[in-house]
Amino acid sequence: MTTALVPPLAACAPVGVFDSGVGGLSVLLEIRCQLPAERLIYVADSGHAPYGDKPPAYVQARAEHILAQLRRAGCKAVVVACNTVTGLSIQALRERHPDWPIVAIEPAVKPAVALTRSGIVGVLATRNTVASPGLARLIAAHAAGVRVLPQACPGWVERVERGELDGPETEAAVAQQVRPLLAVGADVLVLGCTHYPFLRPVIERVAGPSVIVLDPAPAVARELARRLAQAGLAAPGPAPGDVAFWTSGDLAQTQRVIALLWGQAVQPQRLPDDPA
Ligand code: DGL
Repeated sequence: MTTALVPPLAACAPVGVFDSGVGGLSVLLEIRCQLPAERLIYVADSGHAPYGDKPPAYVQARAEHILAQLRRAGCKAVVVACNTVTGLSIQALRERHPDWPIVAIEPAVKPAVALTRSGIVGVLATRNTVASPGLARLIAAHAAGVRVLPQACPGWVERVERGELDGPETEAAVAQQVRPLLAVGADVLVLGCTHYPFLRPVIERVAGPSVIVLDPAPAVARELARRLAQAGLAAPGPAPGDVAFWTSGDLAQTQRVIALLWGQAVQPQRLPDDPA
């Protein structure tokens, strides 16, 4: 029988990855690096960013709309590359799609607690993530004996959306949120928003070499690999999978910023059937 050598058709389907905007590209880059054979569809909901300041019901409705489009596109799995969506809505999304592998990023509180020597950890995140039930659950589950200080970082997402990754104004905005955490002794900083890895050089410059900065994106890519293998859905390879970009934002602006963050020119398309 030769049929055992033919990968199931479902394994050749794409993986959907989405965020409020271009931040989730920090996760997409890790997935591309660890799972190059996977076909990927990335949704940047830049027309509705930032999620971090929107009412939770609005964020959940956007996430549901995007999941519906990714399902219609035949995605075999989805990655929520947005801590804000995870913190506010992940349970509801999983309940609505119980038959679908949904891998979701969340702030790396557990590894941070294992690494801190001062016993003080800062979590840099959006306002919605800071106030979310998801972050409260993570802290309750993993941070016994350690002070975890969630810090909202207004304006950082908008900077990354504009491609302003460095310069005096970006450094001042970063210092304003990071310095108070350093002043109280935080020695580990968690990047609790997928836009922030693109500010990492500035964050590390402000924080100095003795502070550990944690990005959970590599762990998300590993978890996706594990889930796909478990379900028999890993792409057969070895040819690299294609990557498509969809957006609800301005096409020219999204194209410019994705090229900057992704490192090569892309042709984003309009997010299908967007009601907004
Ligand atoms: N990048 C997202 C996150 O991880 C959302 C940022 C936003 O739109 O406010 O939280």
